[in-house]
Amino acid sequence: MTIVRRFALACFIATGLNARAQQGILKVQADKVTATIQPTMWGIFFEDINFGADGGLYAELVKNRSFEFTKPLMGWTKEGHKVVEGSMLILNRKAEDPNNPRFLRVTADHEGPGDLGLVNEGFRGMGIKKGVRYFFSILYRQPQTGITLHIGLKDAKGNSLGDTVLVPTETGEQWHKATATITATATEPKASMTLGFEGDGRIDVDMISLFPGDTWRNRPGGLRADMVQWLADMKPGFIRFPGGCIVEGMDLNNRYQWKKTVGPVEDRQFEINRWNVEFPRRSTPDYFQSHGLGFFEYFQLAEDIGAQPLPILNCGMACQFNTAELVPLDQEDPYIQDALDLVEFANGDTTTRWGKLRASMGHPASFHLQMMGVGNENWGPQYVERLQEFTKAIKARYPDLKLVNSSGTDPDGARFDYLNGELRSMHADLIDEHYYRNPEWFFANARRYDGYPRGSSHIFAGEYAAQSDHTVSPENKNCWLTALSEAAFMTGLERNADVVSMASYAPLFANADAWQWTPDLIWVNNLQSYGTPDYYVQQLFSLNKGTGVVPLTLDGHTVAGQDSLYATACVDDATHDLIIKVVNASGQPAVKTIAVEGRKLGKTGTLTVLQNNDLGAVNTFDQPRQVAPHTTTLQTGKTISLAMEPYSFNIIRIPLR
Ligand code: AHR
Repeated sequence: MTIVRRFALACFIATGLNARAQQGILKVQADKVTATIQPTMWGIFFEDINFGADGGLYAELVKNRSFEFTKPLMGWTKEGHKVVEGSMLILNRKAEDPNNPRFLRVTADHEGPGDLGLVNEGFRGMGIKKGVRYFFSILYRQPQTGITLHIGLKDAKGNSLGDTVLVPTETGEQWHKATATITATATEPKASMTLGFEGDGRIDVDMISLFPGDTWRNRPGGLRADMVQWLADMKPGFIRFPGGCIVEGMDLNNRYQWKKTVGPVEDRQFEINRWNVEFPRRSTPDYFQSHGLGFFEYFQLAEDIGAQPLPILNCGMACQFNTAELVPLDQEDPYIQDALDLVEFANGDTTTRWGKLRASMGHPASFHLQMMGVGNENWGPQYVERLQEFTKAIKARYPDLKLVNSSGTDPDGARFDYLNGELRSMHADLIDEHYYRNPEWFFANARRYDGYPRGSSHIFAGEYAAQSDHTVSPENKNCWLTALSEAAFMTGLERNADVVSMASYAPLFANADAWQWTPDLIWVNNLQSYGTPDYYVQQLFSLNKGTGVVPLTLDGHTVAGQDSLYATACVDDATHDLIIKVVNASGQPAVKTIAVEGRKLGKTGTLTVLQNNDLGAVNTFDQPRQVAPHTTTLQTGKTISLAMEPYSFNIIRIPLR
């Protein structure tokens, strides 16, 4: 029996057949704030997994643009009847340029157009849109002129979508950049780019790039606008980056090192993506990190969408599911220095080394970094030892910087218990808890934080997602049941906002043609994107965040499962609204009377409902709003009558007088 059927049956047995005009009144004390909701409460988790960065958010269309993949011509095909042995060679100048060692040397012998060239397949094709201008660029050097470049876009059948000609004019030993543009004549999800070499002579080429002109905020070399828009539309309180396990790396050499991701893009070092080889059943041998989306761009993205930046850094430990390599404690300084330098990069004066680099990249002002994570899903005494060193050094220099600490991979068990104890005795600022569990767990844990210690370490629910099958199963779906269970759980996070300061669903993005991990919040292909039911749950919590929790009770008890209801209430000091969130997890409609005490209500408010009778319902590219919110006007009186549909998430928003 699928998890959806099992859950529906359990609800049916629990609630009986009839629509429920239930006993008991939901009582809200609107004048009694019990907890402050942090502005950071609902945020986002970004990791370069599922082609989230290259082939996703980073709008570059050329795959393997500088021939640095393990197989240097992966993504490229040689084309033309004059392709002969030696006409295209990969050269490696590692001693001279360790970050970008390889380039392509082309030798042409009186070639005509189409005789000798390359085709780039893009990231499972290139998404090309009619009327959009595409910006081609290339680094080249040549002893003398004589070669003309032909750049073309083709649809999957080989028809032209536009082309142009570029004549490199500079000669000598130096590298030069040449650019050209093409305006596409048609829309095509699986296009490719051709690059032909006509003429006679030799040319070296590198960093062959193609970006759409319609990037987010039209930034050259920028991000995919539709994908950023989904994030902006959540109004997230923070953005965590760059992961996730990618922080740890398969081994220490493969760990994420932010310094390799800043400065001119041609100087950023390629790195194999750890998800490339992680799951043989979802193999993606062409998954690398160009770092075109690097730490500067992450900070800029955070600023653009009004989110606080939350970088997570490696603590001297590689992924404990992979090599579990450790840096010896007496050799940890470079790792700690990376953390200290990152604060300077984000916030430092432009006279400092790293602040100057930030300014040179176009952002002299501070990025206002206020928190940082040390380690992702690390565990054991080895983590505690390393974390202590980091904490001492960082707090000595930046006492106000809040540090996020890992509590391991699971929300319970021996590893968790050990770390939870250790971190609390260290007075950790924020403890990062992760839960990839089935929907039943999420419903059952709506009270998880009711009994947590107050006045000590705060909780960052840093990664969570209900799994319709099981963790890392490729069968997991973003269905309405998973989203509904997360909504129920999140009422518990909000109710305990004095303990829980931050929360983020994970992972964020998945490329439908190249994913490794499911479920994910937002799915994309080369031209389209859609939000899952889980996305709308996240968005509704974030857009209806409020500033202070107020008591909501049923017969004197918080509402976390009675009558299959899960509820919470808060006030928003900025808008002077009362916000009530109620999840009806039953397959039956339910009617509830809500009595609000302590404040007078405006006559009308709004009711926003996310609902589907089918717990297995999903959104798709063709039907992106099968499960999506709808808002109507709600009349109030002395009390509020809330009629809830089966399996629904209901948000009432009413002005307070
Ligand atoms: O979100 C996917 C992965 O799940 C993250 O990289 C890791 O932290 C967790 O195990």
